[in-house]
Amino acid sequence: MPTIEYRKEGKIAIFTLNRPDVLNAQNAQLHHELNDAFLDFRDDSDLWVGIINGHGRAFSAGADIKEFVLGPTEGRAGFRRIRAEQIWKPFIAAIHGYCLGGGLQLAMECDLRIAADDAHFGYPEVLIGYFPGSECTLRLPRYIPRSHVMELMLMGKQVDAYEAYRMGLLNLVVPQDKLMQAALDWAETICQAGPLGVRAAKEMIIRGYHMTWNDGMKLEAELTERVRNSEDFKEGARAFVEKRKPVFKGK
Ligand code: COA
Repeated sequence: MPTIEYRKEGKIAIFTLNRPDVLNAQNAQLHHELNDAFLDFRDDSDLWVGIINGHGRAFSAGADIKEFVLGPTEGRAGFRRIRAEQIWKPFIAAIHGYCLGGGLQLAMECDLRIAADDAHFGYPEVLIGYFPGSECTLRLPRYIPRSHVMELMLMGKQVDAYEAYRMGLLNLVVPQDKLMQAALDWAETICQAGPLGVRAAKEMIIRGYHMTWNDGMKLEAELTERVRNSEDFKEGARAFVEKRKPVFKGK
């Protein structure tokens, strides 16, 4: 039984976590299958945007605690899957139900987060004597104020979608029955833009964050050169002048 349902709808790839009986808890198999699907998405030039969601009543209740009982590394055996933030194509998380621990980590890897109004968020790791690994403690303070990070991580506190939105974890909260449509609408909006420019912007935002200003300027010059010499940029500028919609090819 695949733990990830991976499908392609036009330019959009949809990754659906598929262990509903255990609230999409993330075991070794799921990490391997998500890794393979991410690599396919990265390398398929016909795919421009990814959406991650979950089957059943949760996005994901985090790491599979039953695997921890086997031993600290036995489950994943040191395997570290590729992160959504290491692929320059945009990812949208469409979150409903529980989004805890590794579930919230996966959502935070994405570039945009849309939640249903029934969603609950938290890092409960400390409640089982563990701590939020997989770069959660590195990533979250780069997104939201440290006081909120501490509140979530030190107490294992859960917050609802509206509080998560106020904390800055989310871009949008929608009624549950509108969740997938909202994610698809955003993905379609991104697909109207030139994909090379979109990817350069994501790469610059993520890599540039860790750079000195001067190194950032060098990377920006490189990416500008790449995008400026693309067929898509010529097409976009020409379409503007000719007062028509551009047709982008990702070249
Ligand atoms: N790992 C493994 N199994 C999990 C899981 C996890 N992280 N989260 C839920 N499950 C399983 C439960 O064991 C249960 O399986 P069972 O039917 O075989 O007993 C099933 O999913 C349904 O969960 P249940 O606890 O019955 O649902 P609930 O609605 O009462 O509670 C949660 C939902 C999310 C509050 C609760 O499951 C929970 O606290 N999960 C752990 C969350 C966590 O600590 N994540 C971080 C891990 S480091």
